[in-house]
Amino acid sequence: MTRRQTAPRPGHDDAARAEELSLRFAEVYGYAPDGVWRAPGRVNLIGEHTDYNDGFVLPFAIDRSAMVAVRLRRGAAQGAGQGPAGHDVVDLASTWAPDGSDLVRDRFRMPGLAPGAVSGWGAYPAGVVHVLAGLDGVAVPGFELLLDSTVPVGAGLSSSHAVEVATIVALDDLLDLGLGRPEMARLTQRAENEFVGVPTGIMDQSASLRGRAGAALFLDCRTQEAELVPLPVAEQGLTVLVIDTRVAHSHSDGGYGARRASCAHGAAALGAASLRDVPEQSDLTGLDEETARRVRHVLSENRRVLQTVERLRAGDVAGIGELLVASHTSLRDDYEVSCPELDLAVDAALAAGAVGARMTGGGFGGSAIALVPATRAEHVRNAVAEAFAAAGRRAPDVFAVVPGEGAGRAR
Ligand code: GLA
Repeated sequence: MTRRQTAPRPGHDDAARAEELSLRFAEVYGYAPDGVWRAPGRVNLIGEHTDYNDGFVLPFAIDRSAMVAVRLRRGAAQGAGQGPAGHDVVDLASTWAPDGSDLVRDRFRMPGLAPGAVSGWGAYPAGVVHVLAGLDGVAVPGFELLLDSTVPVGAGLSSSHAVEVATIVALDDLLDLGLGRPEMARLTQRAENEFVGVPTGIMDQSASLRGRAGAALFLDCRTQEAELVPLPVAEQGLTVLVIDTRVAHSHSDGGYGARRASCAHGAAALGAASLRDVPEQSDLTGLDEETARRVRHVLSENRRVLQTVERLRAGDVAGIGELLVASHTSLRDDYEVSCPELDLAVDAALAAGAVGARMTGGGFGGSAIALVPATRAEHVRNAVAEAFAAAGRRAPDVFAVVPGEGAGRAR
C-alpha cells in the first residue's frame, strides 16, 4: 500500500476560510466568485459495507470539509475578464494538492465530456458536471472553481465525496436546479461510479449532504429514508478520536469491488435480491466458506446498526462501545477489510481506556475511530502513538472530531 504525502491541515473557522478562499479565487481568476460552498467529510459510526447491500448505516458529518468558490461564466458576449476560454470551458484550481504543491490547475470543455477525459482530483467536479449535464432540461454553463479542503486525503474520511458534494450544492444553487438532498446523494454517487470509476455506495454523500450538528444520520440505504439520531458525545463527557493510520486506502484497488461481488453472489445463492432481504438466522451452510463469512458480516452489521440506534435513542452514548468493538471484529475476521495498522489502533485505544473503537470507512487502510472519555483522550492519543512507535510503524495522526453540519453555502 502506498502512503500519502499530505498532512491534514487543521480546520479553522468556516467563515474565515470561506473569505480566504474568496480572496484567493480573485487572485487566481481576476474577479470575485459568485459564492463559496462547503461539504464535510464523514465518520461512519457503524454500519460498514452495508450500504451497497441495501442495508443500514449510521455516519455523521465531521467538522472538516471541502470548500469550493465558484463563478459561472457569463457567456462570450459579456467576455470582459474571461480570458480566451469559451463559455463551455470549466477551469479548476485547487490548493488541495496531494503532491503538496501550492496550487494545481486543470481544465475541461463540456461537449464530449466523458469518463476518462479528466483524471486525478479534477475528476470529482468533472463527474458532477457530467451527471448534471445528462439530466433532462439541465444545461451546465462553463465555470471557474477553486477548491480547498481540510479533509485529509486517503484517510477514509470521504475527502473525494466532499469535493463532489461541494460541487453539486454549488451548481444546484447557482443554476437554481432545486435538487433535493437524496437526489443529490444519488447523483454524486453516479459521478463516483460512472465517471470516477469507483464502485462505492451511497453512505458518504448522504452523510455529507444530510448530516446535522450534534447528530448521526440513521439511513436506510434501500429507501434513503433517514432519521437524525442525537449524538451528545461531549455532553456525556466523551470524545470521538479519529486515528488516521496514514496507510492510504483506495477503493479502486479491487478489494472493495471483490467484497461487493461476494455479497451479490451470496444474495443470489440465497435466492434474495439483496442481503437486506436475508434474515440473520438464515442457514448459510450452502455457501462456500468465504462467501458465508462475508454474508455473516453484513447480516450481523445491519443488526448492530439497529442496536446502536436503539441505545442512542435511549441516550446511552457510552453503551454503543461494545457494538463498535463487535463491528471491528466482524470486519477484521469475517469481512477481512482491516489491516495490521487499523487493528493496532483499535487494540491500543481499547487498552488505554476507550469505551469502543473500530475501523471506519471502506478499510484496507484509512482511519479507525475511538470513543473515549474526554478526560482520557490525551492518554489514549499518547498510548496509540506509543504502540505505533513500538511496532515500528509510522506515527498515526490522531485528532478529535465532532458531529457537524451538512453541506451548504458558506458565503
Ligand atoms: C466506502 C464507500 C461507502 C461504503 C464504505 C463501507 O466509504 O464509499 O459507500 O461502502 O466504504 O461501508
